[in-house]
Amino acid sequence: MNSFCITTPIYYVNARPHLGHAYTTIVADALARYHKLLGEETFFLTGTDEHGDKIVQAAEKNKVTPQEFVDGISNEFRALWPKLGIANDAFVRTTDAHHKKLVQKFLQQVYNNGDIYFGEFGGHYCYGCERFYTEKELENGLCPQHLTKPEFISEKNYFFRMSKYLPWLKQYIEENPNFIRPERYRNEVLAMLESGALEDLCISRPKSRLTWGIELPFDKDYVCYVWFDALLNYISALGWSEEGSRFEQFWPAEHLVAKDILKPHAVFWPTMLKAAGLPLYKHLNVHGYWLVRDTKMSKSLGNVVDPLETAQRFGVDAFRYFLLREMTFGSDANCTEESMITRMNADLANDLGNLYSRVLSMNAKYFEGIVPAMPAVEHEDDKAIRELAAECMHNYRQLFGQTLFAQGLDSLWVLVRALNKYVDSQAPWALAKQGQTERLGAVLYTLLEAMRKVAVCVWPVMPTAACAMLEQLAVPLRDGMPATTLDEEIASWGGLACGAHIAAASNLFPRIDMPKVEAAAKPAKAKKEKKPEPEAIATGNNIDFDAFKAVDMRIGTVLVAEKHPNADRILRLEIDLGEEAPRQILSGLADFYQPEALVGRQVCVVANLAPRKIRGLLSHGMVLTAEKDGKLELLTVGAPVPNGSGIA
Ligand code: MSP
Repeated sequence: MNSFCITTPIYYVNARPHLGHAYTTIVADALARYHKLLGEETFFLTGTDEHGDKIVQAAEKNKVTPQEFVDGISNEFRALWPKLGIANDAFVRTTDAHHKKLVQKFLQQVYNNGDIYFGEFGGHYCYGCERFYTEKELENGLCPQHLTKPEFISEKNYFFRMSKYLPWLKQYIEENPNFIRPERYRNEVLAMLESGALEDLCISRPKSRLTWGIELPFDKDYVCYVWFDALLNYISALGWSEEGSRFEQFWPAEHLVAKDILKPHAVFWPTMLKAAGLPLYKHLNVHGYWLVRDTKMSKSLGNVVDPLETAQRFGVDAFRYFLLREMTFGSDANCTEESMITRMNADLANDLGNLYSRVLSMNAKYFEGIVPAMPAVEHEDDKAIRELAAECMHNYRQLFGQTLFAQGLDSLWVLVRALNKYVDSQAPWALAKQGQTERLGAVLYTLLEAMRKVAVCVWPVMPTAACAMLEQLAVPLRDGMPATTLDEEIASWGGLACGAHIAAASNLFPRIDMPKVEAAAKPAKAKKEKKPEPEAIATGNNIDFDAFKAVDMRIGTVLVAEKHPNADRILRLEIDLGEEAPRQILSGLADFYQPEALVGRQVCVVANLAPRKIRGLLSHGMVLTAEKDGKLELLTVGAPVPNGSGIA
């Protein structure tokens, strides 16, 4: 059985967990689950980094001992992960006795090999980064991270002969183009290595200056530099050097980090491993930063996104989906309320949720909730769906495995959207009306089987929703996950049991209302100079621009569609126009659309027509249509937009 090990950075305990920490840990969880779904044995490691100056300062500020301080925040991290659907296998703390012991063992080994030496050193020390900078690394004399002036410190310290391994590292990175990915970060590291700015690494701090650290095994007057200690968590947690440990099965691991800690992971860590004669990690997977309205999150700006609060508001699975779908791995992405609601409504409520809801309710209506028989002879349209499902799942598998999560999910959604279109084009309601029961059964079987496959595929990203979807389809789970592997699903068709009793309804991802922007909160528009009025050319039926502007046209989503109780040709619609309550609008669509086919669709509405009663029901607005050969076609938008968006 293949083994797969994934790690996150161990987070500093001087700040509470925020969106950035949650993102990396959710990605690691999704990757671990993805490999589980491939039938592999997986190990997922996260934890906290608890030594160094910053911790001592934070503890002092809070008037507690460093140990009390780190215990508190470390527990907060540990307790948060299960609430975000994260199932890590281990949680390492650098203050654990076991970790300390292995760090000392590693230091001693590298020291014995002659790669650690004692020397006098003067350097520019940044307290924020807890590290020395060389002259060349500073930008205008300032720390490039904090833009503060570092202090020049001269003291005796221990050094790791990193420079000895740099030519080897450069060659290794050149020969293994995927070692650091995506490519932009690989190039950044190669540029660093070519710059000549890297020297030996100072790996100790005198106890006279800092005591909160791991004592060097060969000199009790010094503690270990926090990064040297922290990086070793990746192997100490696996029990490196211990017989029968997980290290043998799970090392080398995959690492996941953001761009802020590229250098320690891409330069310090591989040279440390090389010096100890250990195999290198598999890949360093580097992602970008989550921004809020293009701005870095920071306490002082008050724009730090609390992951738990967000997940509780939108649902854990929807939040996880958003994070994986919205960020192109490697680049920065924006997290705003609007971007979340737009994405969740479009992909989850409209596409996936609506598919489940309409197909399950049709199956309840036409087959009393029992899965119809798989057709003996395959119809061309059903074959196209089967083939598309295999293709989309194959693409999803390939992309996800290369950390291209957004692209992978997008491939899967090609299938989800095609299934919704298939519902429209096959029109099960028409088949039912015409008594074509066999064809109706084939269509519903095709849909339900493809929906089952989608549920299996989304398990790594939305574990709870995927299990709920499988339960709705009466598909048994194994150990809380799909019982079939991803590869089995790609290669097969027809796994859904005929005759099974399945759910009659589904409401997986309710639509989320976009909060209205208060007029007062909108930035005041600068007064514009009055432009000269364009000359109106009054001809025939033309109206002037003011008359056009007076028509309030908006986009909305159909939530409910049903026949008017007293008028055969009219449908009663409830449409979400981004207002507090949905609008009731009556429309003469009954001859052209089945009500079920309209639910979830976005339509164009004239919102400020005076309300009028039609056969006893009030209609407040008009749905726009185009007429072709006496048939009405709904006007719609090319891509989902927030409900209430104006038309101009
Ligand atoms: N303790 C070190 C890591 C040692 S690993 C051997 C550290 N800790 S940290 O708490 O600062 O965490 C940094 C990591 O948190 C980033 O690499 C990333 O995984 C995550 N993020 C923190 N802010 C982030 C964003 N704004 N966006 C995305 N992820 C970010 O560095």
